[in-house]
Amino acid sequence: MEKTAKLKINDSMYELPILEGTEGEIGVDISSLRAQSGVITLDKGFKNTGSTKSAITFLNGEEGILRYRGYSIEELSSKSSFLEVAFLLIYGELPTKEELSEFTNEISSHTLVHEDVKSILDGFPSRAHPMGVLSSLVSSLTAFYPKSLDPNRSVEEINGTIIRLIAKLPTLAAWSYKNRMRQPIMYPQNKLDYTSNFLHMMFGLPTSDSEVNPIIAKALDQLLILHADHEQNCSASTVRIVGSSHASLYASVSAGIAALWGPLHGGANQAVIEMLENIRNQGGDVSKFVEKAKDKSDPFRLMGFGHRVYKNFDPRAKIIKKAADDVLGQLGINDPVLDLAMKLEEVALKDEYFVQRGLYPNVDFYSGIIYRALGIPTDMFTVMFALGRLPGWIAQWKEMRENKEPIGRPRQIYTGHRNRGYIDISKR
Ligand code: MLT
Repeated sequence: MEKTAKLKINDSMYELPILEGTEGEIGVDISSLRAQSGVITLDKGFKNTGSTKSAITFLNGEEGILRYRGYSIEELSSKSSFLEVAFLLIYGELPTKEELSEFTNEISSHTLVHEDVKSILDGFPSRAHPMGVLSSLVSSLTAFYPKSLDPNRSVEEINGTIIRLIAKLPTLAAWSYKNRMRQPIMYPQNKLDYTSNFLHMMFGLPTSDSEVNPIIAKALDQLLILHADHEQNCSASTVRIVGSSHASLYASVSAGIAALWGPLHGGANQAVIEMLENIRNQGGDVSKFVEKAKDKSDPFRLMGFGHRVYKNFDPRAKIIKKAADDVLGQLGINDPVLDLAMKLEEVALKDEYFVQRGLYPNVDFYSGIIYRALGIPTDMFTVMFALGRLPGWIAQWKEMRENKEPIGRPRQIYTGHRNRGYIDISKR
């Protein structure tokens, strides 16, 4: 017997199906509400509204659980690799040895981009933020692969697009950085693994084979795993809704990059380091800024603390915090800004004001610290987030298209003028 929710509106009663997810989550399916009653629901920011059913990622904000296709991020970040996790998210199962080898080789053979991309890149001034450049370059891929625009493409052709995007995003990301630095671009060295190849294109020497620090490459690979998906976050929802109009994967991911750029989403890791540098530049008194953060009349806000979904702790932050400690120790890094971060973390974790409000250091607090330690420039932090989130965006787009979900078209509550007659300009 189907469970239903009963909704009384004025003198009418309506019944709506109750859905239960794999982990016991309960939802009310309101798909038929407007047809039954003419009434819609309103939920600004959709924080209480599910947009879809998905089998990709499960998270529990109260218990701090995050799993990709049922596997915990704790296990995946310590035992797997980013490309293996990308395969898992996109195709639903961990690959066999042969499948992973083929996937990796396919990606390695598509890392180059058309030489004309350089002409597009050259059109950007050096002050252009790498996220804006990256979003544009990803969208430009539709020009070089016009068949990707066909909404009725075969599974094989869609897979080709998936491989190309995973292969080329590190190249485009590194080139966005080189444009910022006004340095010559570096071409991929396909004998290197995925993260080492990216580091080579970012920092490698044009004259010789790059010596990529394995500590840095491994830490980066783990960071990319921890950012790979996060169910229906802002950028994943953007990719889904753009894809729901049957726009290409390139166009949908380009839109996802734009959504991630915002400081309330992926831009938070850049904002953390800028906040810490500001504290350092103003004397480094952490306690003073903690008090400012508590003062409602003070505009200063602590970036990198708390999370809209996790109520007690961000499971990714726990893993990245340990990785940050390991990397800073192994690389022997002494950075006053990073020392400030550790002081701020210590104060916040003990202060009742932050503890009561669930304002604990989140994934963005520690990822900014570790990216800085890895030598990644601040305005490339969100680009790193995009590199990690790509498999999640692809998986969400693919699931939405395979499930033949309808075009996203929310309704509204109208609050504007009632009908009124046009007034000639001479009489206004
Ligand atoms: C993410 O990983 O996308 C961020 O934590 C934001 C979110 O999930 O809303």
